[in-house]
Amino acid sequence: MGFVERTQSGHVATLTINRPDKLNALSAEVVSELASTFAMLVRESTTGEPSCATRAVLLTGAGKAFVAGADIAAMATMTTTEAARFSEAGHALCAGIEAAPFAVIAAVNGFALGGGLELALACDFIYAADTAKVGLPEVTLGVIPGFGGTQRLARRVGVGRARELVFTGRMVAAEEALRIGLVNEVVPAAELLERAGKVAAQIAAVGPLAVTAAKRAMLLGTEASLGPACELERQAFAALFGTEDQRTGMSAFLAKQKTSFAGR
Ligand code: COA
Repeated sequence: MGFVERTQSGHVATLTINRPDKLNALSAEVVSELASTFAMLVRESTTGEPSCATRAVLLTGAGKAFVAGADIAAMATMTTTEAARFSEAGHALCAGIEAAPFAVIAAVNGFALGGGLELALACDFIYAADTAKVGLPEVTLGVIPGFGGTQRLARRVGVGRARELVFTGRMVAAEEALRIGLVNEVVPAAELLERAGKVAAQIAAVGPLAVTAAKRAMLLGTEASLGPACELERQAFAALFGTEDQRTGMSAFLAKQKTSFAGR
């Protein structure tokens, strides 16, 4: 235990993966701790007082890496069954982040390789330090990405670029990652958390039920064809008109006032 540190500032939670001596490599224990931390955040936001819930999460790493991959020392001797279990746990973690009712921003402070990049790709978007290096080097170890990388990278940057990166295993510097749309912004390393924190705070200040609905519609929509996906949006749009947030948000606009949202 103790591989994930959580700090809270209002509606924004920062999770720091803390195994710097191994460049935050994802052992089964780290994966499990990350999953239980996200599960706790989800529980708090679905069962707690809505006005206190976490609305945005920053995910980052301690030291010079975000995460340098799944733990190669642990994987080296895995059987097929153990590898299947490990991959399942990684997939469940990534799916949990994607389905979470709050925004999750990856603040990639250094190496994000293999499972580290897969974790970042499960987040809603990525801010990267100018020193960051990202990639899916699994083929250099004789395997393939196992936490969703073959699927989510292509959805983020397109199939051609994803195939090139997966087949070569090459590392990409922050600027190239920006150019291909893998990350949203590159920031001087010392300013990364502050910059990503500002974006998180901006998200935390808008209607939280709206952000949740938008996140769901955009996630489920990628799995559906355009017609059903737009129907999903129509239903979610209409449902928000049953919320206090919609009433306070629109009346504040009309009264030329600022408002805060209760998440109800
Ligand atoms: N799994 C397990 N341990 C890892 C690791 C991983 N994915 N990545 C780094 N580490 C460990 C190293 O073994 C080393 O441990 P040690 O001090 O006990 O020997 C420690 O973290 C520091 O790493 P080191 O390689 O010395 O740092 P570096 O700055 O020279 O190199 C990398 C950084 C990221 C280039 C290099 O660590 C690397 O290639 N890591 C593996 C990346 C990878 O293939 N990930 C995909 C896994 S599927």
